Amino acid sequence: MDFAILPSLLAADGAKLGEELTRVAQSGSDAVHLDIMDAHFVPNLSFGPDVVRVSRRVCPDLYRHVHLMLTRPDSYIDAFADAGAQTIQIHVEADCDIWETLRKIRARGLRSGLVLRPQTPAAVVVPYLRLCDEVLFMTVNPGYGGQSFMPEVLPHITELRRYADGQGWRDFAIMVDGGINYETVELAAAAGANQFVAGSFLFRQPDMAAAVREMRKRALLAGSPPPVCHTGMSECSS
Ligand code: DX5
Ligand code: ZN
Repeated sequence: MDFAILPSLLAADGAKLGEELTRVAQSGSDAVHLDIMDAHFVPNLSFGPDVVRVSRRVCPDLYRHVHLMLTRPDSYIDAFADAGAQTIQIHVEADCDIWETLRKIRARGLRSGLVLRPQTPAAVVVPYLRLCDEVLFMTVNPGYGGQSFMPEVLPHITELRRYADGQGWRDFAIMVDGGINYETVELAAAAGANQFVAGSFLFRQPDMAAAVREMRKRALLAGSPPPVCHTGMSECSS
């Protein structure tokens, strides 16, 4: 299984957006995560398609992963696709036709994703998985960076990982977002997540590349199953 690390631009220094994007691009991370907030679905405003466009212009090779925290994401799919989004995620709790919106994202040639608030049960996304390339579990209440990780979400992650394994979807992308640092990345990986969004922790590191490497290494160690013993010898059983 591959383990991906996605820095969230919400924690960047907005006065030097270009430099911050370049820092992410040079960090060896897998994508930049762009958090879009409408002050209605969540109690905060962030930025819009223009910042996605800036990201494409400054770092065209940096994958653009867009998380829409909008009450009506269906009205903005084209705007974000035109701006250069490569994945668009919508909340399963949004006030729109989820099927139709996922279908619209895919019809634009993009990867589609569903996001759950910490309180939403994992089973809610199951009917949509045929139209959905990835699922993201919020491990904080959406709206702000810099909050503490909510461990009560971990069983939800494990439940979906077991379901995906049961379907034979071995590398299905299960993501976490909120309060991710060296300790919580291990908890989330052990529970079954394989992609990790981290904002404030990564942006406050003087060497983001070293932190991304360390985070990926910890996820890999915590998330990989122990080696299988093929000999049947007793010393393999520990
Ligand atoms: C919160 C956003 C997150 C946030 C993560 O609503 O979806 O992506 O930026 O920030 P940290 O890692 O600081 O919790
Ligand atoms: Zn996010």
